[in-house]
Amino acid sequence: MLLNPSANHVYRQATVALSCAELTVTAPFASEITPCRIGAADALGFQADEVDELVLAAQSAHLVTFRQEGDLLRPLDVPDISVMDDDLVTIPKYQGKTNEGFTRLLLHLTLSQVERPGPLEVLDPLAGRGTTLLAAWRASHHGFGVEADEKAFEALAGYLKTYLRTKRIKHTVQVTPVRREGRTLGRRLDAEARLGEATHDQPARPGMPTLRMTVFTGDTRDTAVLFGRKRFDAIVTDAPYGVVHGSEQQRDPNAGDAIASGKGRAGQSGRGGRTPRDRSPQTLLAEAIPVWRGQLKAGGALGISWNTHTLSRTQLLDIISQAGLQPRDEGPWRQFAHRVDASINRDLVVATAP
Ligand SMILES: C[S@@+](CC[C@H](N)C(=O)[O-])C[C@H]1O[C@@H](n2cnc3c(N)ncnc32)[C@H](O)[C@@H]1O
Repeated sequence: MLLNPSANHVYRQATVALSCAELTVTAPFASEITPCRIGAADALGFQADEVDELVLAAQSAHLVTFRQEGDLLRPLDVPDISVMDDDLVTIPKYQGKTNEGFTRLLLHLTLSQVERPGPLEVLDPLAGRGTTLLAAWRASHHGFGVEADEKAFEALAGYLKTYLRTKRIKHTVQVTPVRREGRTLGRRLDAEARLGEATHDQPARPGMPTLRMTVFTGDTRDTAVLFGRKRFDAIVTDAPYGVVHGSEQQRDPNAGDAIASGKGRAGQSGRGGRTPRDRSPQTLLAEAIPVWRGQLKAGGALGISWNTHTLSRTQLLDIISQAGLQPRDEGPWRQFAHRVDASINRDLVVATAP
């Protein structure tokens, strides 16, 4: 399996090891998975009597898979399962963006543990400008989010409008105020992309999905207030790294204007007086994960990536288990940690909801 060379140098170095662990946990038909090279390209070699092409297609760094026949390599017919172009996720460039390849990996690993078939409803309760939600759309799932940073929320809404218009995809994108008991709590974005509908210069594409997205501004600990009775098949999120600088340019988002100035829900609900210590990723996750767990359907899965310099794996597993979720922590599930830069060592954990 040839691996897609990632645009991000830092992530490229980790891609082989991460893809190896990803194939191990998601492709039961593959054994003896070993890194190798085809010419100058990174690849994974594996043994299999039969392959499931859809599982190969879902691998986050999959480019082409060949079957070895004597000295020759014959390409397998692995379909492109994305329903939207990859530029949906790659065009936005901004400080604090989660690497797209890593987002695909976390999404794929998490969704591989959900018990029901797609299309699924995926929540990113720390949505930023929506990398996870856009990756979910490409994979034909619906995206839901919460984000404290109003500017990130506006950027996502603006980007969706421009992208869908430019690509001539039939759509609606609406931003409306959220009011409860006469008070304005924040805003919500509702978007719909009707991929199968004809446009003035393109015929209808029967069988293509209509994708939905809803994102609220607000504090992630208020996810249950914002989404009410709604439950999700999966929660997939990249937690704040708790650092000011990094090669992925992560500013501590918890120190962001929306929260620090009390302009967001956090401020309105009396959370504006937190000390910087209170805003550590550890405290945030300890408070948020039990709330998120309540929004997860039985048979659903939660996937989180975080910086192990701010919180150890054991501490996060404790928080997750105490919330009533069952973390996958055996063998290859422990092989996803990788260095991003001097201040960020990123790891991920996936847990299922009984
Ligand atoms: C690591 S970033 C996620 C970036 C996102 N995956 C992307 O690529 O755009 C974490 C996000 O969490 C948001 N955040 C931090 N604390 C929050 C809170 N208490 N409630 C809601 N959002 C919060 C930050 O504003 C930031 O956008």
